[in-house]
Amino acid sequence: MNEASDSKNTTETRVRITYLPSGIVVEAPEGTDLLTAARENGVPIATQCLGEARCASCMVEVIEGEENLNRIKPDERHSITRKSYRLACRARAYGAVTVRCVHDPSVTKKDPGLGEDSHFDVGGSDFFDR
Ligand code: FES
Repeated sequence: MNEASDSKNTTETRVRITYLPSGIVVEAPEGTDLLTAARENGVPIATQCLGEARCASCMVEVIEGEENLNRIKPDERHSITRKSYRLACRARAYGAVTVRCVHDPSVTKKDPGLGEDSHFDVGGSDFFDR
C-alpha cells in the first residue's frame, strides 16, 4: 500500500444511515446508495430488479435527512409515488439519513402492487454480483 492509498483510507467520509422499522444503523462511505448500504450490512430490503430502478420494490420513505441525498434523476422520478419517497437503489447518502422501508420483507402483509411473484432479498449469501 502506498502513501496515497493510505491517505485515501484515512480521509474517507462515512455517513450514518438508519433503516426503519428494523432500527438498524449502518455507516457507509459517502455517496453510497441506500440499497447497497443496506445489503452490505444485512438490512432486509426488497428488490425485484436488483438495483436497476425498474421494480420500485426498494422504495423508502425519507424520514430525516432528505437534504443529504442526491437529486432525483429521470430514471427514478417515474417510480416515485409520494414526495417523501425515494428508490433505495438510486438515493445516494452524503450525510445522515433515516429512511423507512416501504416494502419491509419482515412484514407478512402482501403489497398489492408487488403481485404474487414478489422477491424479497435480505442480502447476505445471495447478494447479487455487480
Ligand atoms: S431495486 Fe428495483 S427499483 Fe430499486
